[in-house]
Amino acid sequence: MELLDFDIVILGTGIAGMTAAIHATEASKGRLRIALVSKLHAMRSHSVCAEGGISGVLYTENSDDSFQLHAYDTIKGSDYLADQDAVELLVRNAPHEIRFFEHLGVPWDRNDKARISQRPFGGMSIPRTAFAADKTGFFMMRALYDTVTGYENVQLFNECMATSLFTEKGRFLGIFSIDLGTGKSILFKAKACIIATGGFARVFSVTTTSYATTGDGIALAYRAGLPLKDMEFIQFHPTTLIPSGILITEAARGEGGYLLNSQGKRFMEAYAKSKMELAPRDIISRAIISEIDAGRGFKHDKSGLDYVELDLRHLKGRIDEKLPMIRDICTKMLNLDPVNEPIPVRPAAHFTMGGIHTSIDGKIMAGPSSSETEGLWAIGECGSVSVHGANRLGSNSLSQCAVWGRIAGRDAAKYALDAKSKGSDGLMDRAIGEEERIGRLLGNRGSEDPYELMHEMQNTLERSFYVYRRMGEMARAAKKLAAIRARYKDVYVTDKKHIYNTNLRDVIEIGNMLDLAVAVAECASRRKETRGAHAVVEYPEREDKSWLKHTIIQMHGEKQVVSYIPVNITKWQPQKRVY
Ligand code: FUM
Repeated sequence: MELLDFDIVILGTGIAGMTAAIHATEASKGRLRIALVSKLHAMRSHSVCAEGGISGVLYTENSDDSFQLHAYDTIKGSDYLADQDAVELLVRNAPHEIRFFEHLGVPWDRNDKARISQRPFGGMSIPRTAFAADKTGFFMMRALYDTVTGYENVQLFNECMATSLFTEKGRFLGIFSIDLGTGKSILFKAKACIIATGGFARVFSVTTTSYATTGDGIALAYRAGLPLKDMEFIQFHPTTLIPSGILITEAARGEGGYLLNSQGKRFMEAYAKSKMELAPRDIISRAIISEIDAGRGFKHDKSGLDYVELDLRHLKGRIDEKLPMIRDICTKMLNLDPVNEPIPVRPAAHFTMGGIHTSIDGKIMAGPSSSETEGLWAIGECGSVSVHGANRLGSNSLSQCAVWGRIAGRDAAKYALDAKSKGSDGLMDRAIGEEERIGRLLGNRGSEDPYELMHEMQNTLERSFYVYRRMGEMARAAKKLAAIRARYKDVYVTDKKHIYNTNLRDVIEIGNMLDLAVAVAECASRRKETRGAHAVVEYPEREDKSWLKHTIIQMHGEKQVVSYIPVNITKWQPQKRVY
């Protein structure tokens, strides 16, 4: 096993992770040695798939926009589960971050006054989403990658998969990982660690997200005994392509697209009269499923999936300028040109609001309400800070990555510069133990097909934790998921080689997803209300008296313990959510 000693190790090379590397470097004037570790090539991180844009109040003169309004929209969008102090931090810092990315080279779309253009997005009172066509994530990633690869103090470890996080009494010690190219073990020892590995929407069978979004960092933290927050809140993006689930950006509606049912009616009028197609995602997804359930959807011949239509035909000229990739995707995937025909769409898993429980600064908490860990941060989609609460507004996630990338990068740098070298007794022994566990997994000749377990898990979540949920069904599904997870110990890995063993990587990812799927079920099956993306048929109203609280789940040995902590309300008292 190779032992590598760094000051900071960053897991994940998406927008959050690479932003943190830049700010840690700048804050320390390049004095800290930083390892940037990804199971993929950095430029294949899921952030490159972000399409529609990044939110922030850029111009206040001659505009009705303000930080207060952005915060209010976000909090109302979250169905009042967001922590309001964290939301205020987000909105105050987002504009600066958009301009920071401009300086890194992102070609923001500009209007005829040469100002950064901002398009309307769901749940926002005013157009405040900056964008680069419909490839915003790609351009941001390109700029970040060009910058970090120019830093001598940052070393990139592409295709290196972390499998275990070691802590001692709440203090970070190190990360065990496998270099996928060679199969060799690497132990990263560092003073500080920033986890930025993204979400876990792949636990569902249809999702807009990359194959890699398996929640590895969240699972590592969970198995290390650290608390997860609000795992029941999964966002279903209303407009994803039939049958693949490929994202058709909300910008298509921001630019003026309509949603139509099989009677040719813009049905959103019945669900969100003032916002129509630009209501928040939870509301539009429920509207689509309600239309389908009422017999006003369409059926896809090949897959049997039900859908509604997204009509862009009236936008003709704007499509090539503002949505070129959407036209390309429809043409390539469905042989359909949105200039001439409506696009068949339905909701699919898109974003996981829950994740590792952190403080407002992105530091990982040691327990539900106890003190922070030492030397550990979780940022981006894998960290629940929580600015999205029960339902994220589109384009707030890229600002979250940028804002907390800077905060965590700087804080981790300060921590690493100040940290006195403390012992890390037992670290190597624990790493050897992990190497042996992976060795046993590789050698396993059990009777369970890991891909079968994955499909059973994905189908169970898709059936029982989709847009509408039912109490009895969730309870049954929770038991079923626990049983599927128990079978994991008997999985077999067919490929026994060490060189680029994608089969072993898959099996590790499936183990991670199973842990998180069980956590989702445990948290969701307890929450008896409808709030944001968690819509329970038997409890159609939000119940602030009993449920205005965050769910925390933590592993104590083999047991999962669920508890609750208060939401931080500063200025915005919960109100009825009408659009
Ligand atoms: O629809 C979209 O472009 C997605 C954006 C987001 O999730 O923030």
